[in-house]
Amino acid sequence: MQIEGSIALVTGGNRGLGKAFVQALLDAGTRKVYVGARRLIEADDPRIQPIKLDVTSKEDIQAAAQAYQDVNILINNAGVAYVNSHAAPTSIDEARQEIETNYLGTLAISLAFAPILKQNGGGALVNMLSVASWYSNPVLGSYGASKAAAWSITNSIRMELRAQGTLVTGIHAGFIDTEMASSFPGPKALPQDIAQATIEGLLADREEVLADKVSHEIKAALAADLSAFYRRIQQQWDSSTR
Ligand SMILES: NC(=O)c1ccc[n+]([C@@H]2O[C@H](COP(=O)([O-])OP(=O)(O)OC[C@H]3O[C@@H](n4cnc5c(N)ncnc54)[C@H](OP(=O)(O)O)[C@@H]3O)[C@@H](O)[C@H]2O)c1
Repeated sequence: MQIEGSIALVTGGNRGLGKAFVQALLDAGTRKVYVGARRLIEADDPRIQPIKLDVTSKEDIQAAAQAYQDVNILINNAGVAYVNSHAAPTSIDEARQEIETNYLGTLAISLAFAPILKQNGGGALVNMLSVASWYSNPVLGSYGASKAAAWSITNSIRMELRAQGTLVTGIHAGFIDTEMASSFPGPKALPQDIAQATIEGLLADREEVLADKVSHEIKAALAADLSAFYRRIQQQWDSSTR
């Protein structure tokens, strides 16, 4: 698709990867970016329009869909992750928040903006997923479940919106160097690189973007021997928590 001259909305655009998406869109020639955030941000670039958009709020979503009818690229980026075990006392509340944000938030915004994308020629709907959409690990189990659900609807929404000409793209990545992954050691991709891979994916009309090396490696490993893959993941987590 053509990005130059487009009008985008990025959820959770105030920090982390969302901020990198905003910059990458502007660098690629986007005319205006609505930057969704739970609390309005200050912007010093006239092409940025801050908007209040809590992705778990029906009222915010409805108001945004009524007010911003010119959007032709939607990036569902907002997300939460809790590091926990299923056995922890808070895990159900945290799992609920992850589902509310990562899955239901993504779904609700996609449904609200699908007619807007249609009226603007199809455009693109981008969902920020994760390698955790494909596999589980012991301390991000409920996060993985919410991302697996988001991956699943990405694929079904794609089929539903194909007739209206909307490109529906899922982005997968391993750890990215943002606040969300700050408690994890080890190599992390730069948010700017993930955002740039996303822009390149959109320009090439790709429906799935493996935005870093880790996502390529994990996809290949999962297709090889699932039991061996999970034994390796378990060993890694066991040794990192010892
Ligand atoms: N970091 C990683 O390792 C990694 C890897 C793969 C995929 N991802 C995905 O990448 C996306 C961005 O994550 P990140 O790494 O940039 O995390 P982050 O640094 O924690 O930022 C999360 C962003 O989501 C926003 N957000 C959370 N709940 C929201 C809500 N209800 N409504 C609106 N905005 C909300 C946050 O806003 P506030 O400032 O208000 O909290 C913040 O802007 C997420 O979908 C995440 O799952 C991250």
